[in-house]
Amino acid sequence: MTQDELKKAVARAALAYLVDGEIVGVGTGSTANCFIDELAGIRHRIRGAVASSETTRKRLEGHGITVFDLDTVDVIPVYVDGADEINATLQMIKGGGGALTREKIVAAVAAKFVCIADGSKLVTVLGHFPLPVEVIPMAIGHVCRQLAAIGGTPRLREGFVTDNGNLIVDVSGLAILDASALETRINQIVGVVTNGLFAHRPADVCLLATQGGVQTLSA
Ligand code: A5P
Repeated sequence: MTQDELKKAVARAALAYLVDGEIVGVGTGSTANCFIDELAGIRHRIRGAVASSETTRKRLEGHGITVFDLDTVDVIPVYVDGADEINATLQMIKGGGGALTREKIVAAVAAKFVCIADGSKLVTVLGHFPLPVEVIPMAIGHVCRQLAAIGGTPRLREGFVTDNGNLIVDVSGLAILDASALETRINQIVGVVTNGLFAHRPADVCLLATQGGVQTLSA
């Protein structure tokens, strides 16, 4: 199977986690897009969706799926999203698409986080993928100096502005042996909105598409 076929397979498998008549949280990225396309076929089963980005909102609405603002919703039984990297304890790096802050907010509200990924995303140690950090624009110099001081190499994502009007810095060279501690440490830098480590709120289930089929990992 091609990587696209793997993404479609894992997106289809995630439909089994939906709760009929309820709202589903929907992530951002190419794998999440496959999930949205699968969702279109069963949209009569759900009440609607909460989107983690404007791109996702448009794709959902394009399929005729009702999109609710998060602040109008009390319960999201399931959030489905991809990852840039995921480890055996289902901690992740996310934000390759720049939607990390809204993804983290929707994931925080959701009762269950179902990560959908192809096998290439499973790693032993997080950090080969540069860690995205969302930054308030006026703080960019300060935040980059602080990230360098903790051993990272920050690079501004040129020409990119998040849905929240902020900048993204991609940080390479971090040894992420304690993802929870690093998530907290980076979030404490003044000017950081949040970073792409999902360690305090890991996935609950990872559906991993491999050539041998879709595997289910739990922490
Ligand atoms: C978006 O900001 C990201 O968190 C994506 O969920 C993540 O980058 C995975 O994207 P792909 O499914 O495109 O690899």
